[in-house]
Amino acid sequence: MTTPLRTVMRPFGISMFSRVSDLAAEHRVINLAQGVPDFPAPPALVEAAATAMRQHINQYAPSPGLASLRAAVSTHAKMRYGVTYDPDTEVTVTAGATEAVWSTAAALLEPGDEAIVIEPYYETYPPSVVAAGGVVRFVPTTFPDFVLDLERLAAACNPRTRLIFLNTPGNPSGRLFTAEELRGAAELAERYDAYLVCDETYEHLIYDGRAHRRVSSVPECRERSVIISSASKTFGVTGWRVGWTLASHAVTDAIRRVHQFVTFAAPSPLQQAVAAMLDDAPRSGYFDELARGFAVRRDLLLDYLRRTGLEVAVPDGGYFVMARCPGDDVTWCEDLIRRPGVAALPGSAFYHDRTGGRDLVRFAFCKAFSTLHAAGARMLRP
Ligand SMILES: Cc1ncc(COP(=O)(O)O)c(C=O)c1O
Repeated sequence: MTTPLRTVMRPFGISMFSRVSDLAAEHRVINLAQGVPDFPAPPALVEAAATAMRQHINQYAPSPGLASLRAAVSTHAKMRYGVTYDPDTEVTVTAGATEAVWSTAAALLEPGDEAIVIEPYYETYPPSVVAAGGVVRFVPTTFPDFVLDLERLAAACNPRTRLIFLNTPGNPSGRLFTAEELRGAAELAERYDAYLVCDETYEHLIYDGRAHRRVSSVPECRERSVIISSASKTFGVTGWRVGWTLASHAVTDAIRRVHQFVTFAAPSPLQQAVAAMLDDAPRSGYFDELARGFAVRRDLLLDYLRRTGLEVAVPDGGYFVMARCPGDDVTWCEDLIRRPGVAALPGSAFYHDRTGGRDLVRFAFCKAFSTLHAAGARMLRP
């Protein structure tokens, strides 16, 4: 079959994520490939959405987002990180972080501009850059510590650099960038007049007493950063498609001009429900409880993986554990699906040069304890 797909988009093909999910469904396996919770969303959140629908909040939201959610996102940024964003002019609600990434790239890149993507990366970044006419420069980091080599980062930057993607905590690495790494990236952004696109989707999933650093809390970085986050992981509602950006007035204006033509607005009743949860979280202790529960899940999965003999990287945050697998990652994952009946994602999916992750595999632990135990038991079975 010949494809009408634009030439520049062809390298992206069908994502490894979809391929493994199809194979997993075919073999009825325990799916630790997908970063999707298999347990119910918080009842209060679901109730808030139902209430919003009953209150007839069912029509288009204003394109920048419901005022209630923009206010909640702004208050959260102020209370949690001490950064002030005007909810009217500096916060935009998008259809998930995915759309936020896409609209940011489309808003800020001129054809031929370059964007830095640190490997292993979340798969949306390269196609969003390329679709916007940009060019991706990759900067690899390696298992097990995934430390960002600032010299390599500097070598990848040049006067054409317009965006530097920073995903912290990272998917799939689980890594929280250190203050030094963030400072180094910020200095390069300053030197080349680039923007830091900070994907903080996992900002509330951080373990071992570590703290999330929001790059824009450094005053010099505020004007040249776009902070992206989402309800997907924080509230376990990946299907709701509610995310947001925080950026200076000028950058927000640019993002909104694209966003209005991409999705126009995210779902209204769901925005209203997320606003209620965000507002309530400091009182309810939701964020602490979330991180505590996920730390236990992480440790459970790490324990099972170690007992199977795999070398693991202990994640600082996020939903995933990276492990080193013996042999080719794709073959290893296919075998894992067929024999013990567990799905994981091949590490090469997260590197543009597939050899980068050829001996790595990603397991998701955003699962019910029973799922993790069942997967662990299968993998340990002789
Ligand atoms: C790093 C990262 N950013 C963004 C997303 C997408 O988030 P959303 O569901 O809000 O589009 C994901 C989802 O897996 C992710 O891992």
